[in-house]
Amino acid sequence: MSSIPKISVIGAGNVGSAAAYRALELNFCDIVLLDIVEGLPQGKALDITQMLAVTGVSSKIIGTNDYADTKDSDVVIITSGLARKPGMSRDDLLSTNTKIIKEVTEKVINYSPNCIIIVVTNPLDAMTYVASKVSGFPKERIVGMAGILDTSRYKAFLSMELNISVSKIDSLVLGGHGDDMVPLKNYTTVSGVPISQLISDNRLNEIIQRTRDGGAEIVKLLKTGSAFYAPGVSSIEMAYSIIMNERKILPCCAYANGEYKINDQFVGLPVILSSKGVEKIIEIDLSEDEQKELEVSASHVKELCDLIDSFNIL
Ligand code: LAC
Repeated sequence: MSSIPKISVIGAGNVGSAAAYRALELNFCDIVLLDIVEGLPQGKALDITQMLAVTGVSSKIIGTNDYADTKDSDVVIITSGLARKPGMSRDDLLSTNTKIIKEVTEKVINYSPNCIIIVVTNPLDAMTYVASKVSGFPKERIVGMAGILDTSRYKAFLSMELNISVSKIDSLVLGGHGDDMVPLKNYTTVSGVPISQLISDNRLNEIIQRTRDGGAEIVKLLKTGSAFYAPGVSSIEMAYSIIMNERKILPCCAYANGEYKINDQFVGLPVILSSKGVEKIIEIDLSEDEQKELEVSASHVKELCDLIDSFNIL
């Protein structure tokens, strides 16, 4: 890695900007913020530079429309892509974002052939597959963000319900970043106490449902967009663990080949994130129901990937 780690954030929309802001707040890397819209990344980078003058952080950010500026990034976070608009089918969004992620990935790897790519664009697990297929990178150097976001929602709702600090709540949400994600009850604890001792099963199920609908709840409130603070910050949680070689176990979209009986596909699983990227998928015991739910969730991701293959554009 270069002496000052370099992270490029592709897409200067709300998620990309939140990610850049968080990374600079942590003061562990320089940031290149890239977007195809002229002026947008430059304007945001200038604003953040001026913010850093307030907080006294020495890390640097530049905004650019030129991929050459991303050269030799250690980590690249891809947030580019469209959200569904009225009149667009799910397939339209899938093919549009597939084309965008394909083009972005080609440009990214041209300048940073050794980087680790974190994909944030939706549909998350499928777009991680696209970045993998297009880059041809070793699978450990492609990882998708979603499990941290989904887990953070679950933890936030539990904290609200129990009226206790979120800092002592621990859990894992696995599976695809969609309606059938799999929050693991047996691995949900508060200061080591199993959640089943603190909350009724019925109420926990309601909280799990709210977690599954967590993204949609925010879309409904915002009306013109989707969540960005938690998604942006979650991507930096991953980048930090990679760049600082923290070796945290985090739920991320990673390539499984036999783990959890999932073969040859990307889906949300607990992994060790280190300077190598996805160093290892951690296999933990799941209940029969959880295993089934995970397989169903993975099969939905697989359907989307098969649909992408049928477009013949990769
Ligand atoms: C969410 C979208 C951004 O979960 O995936 O908020």
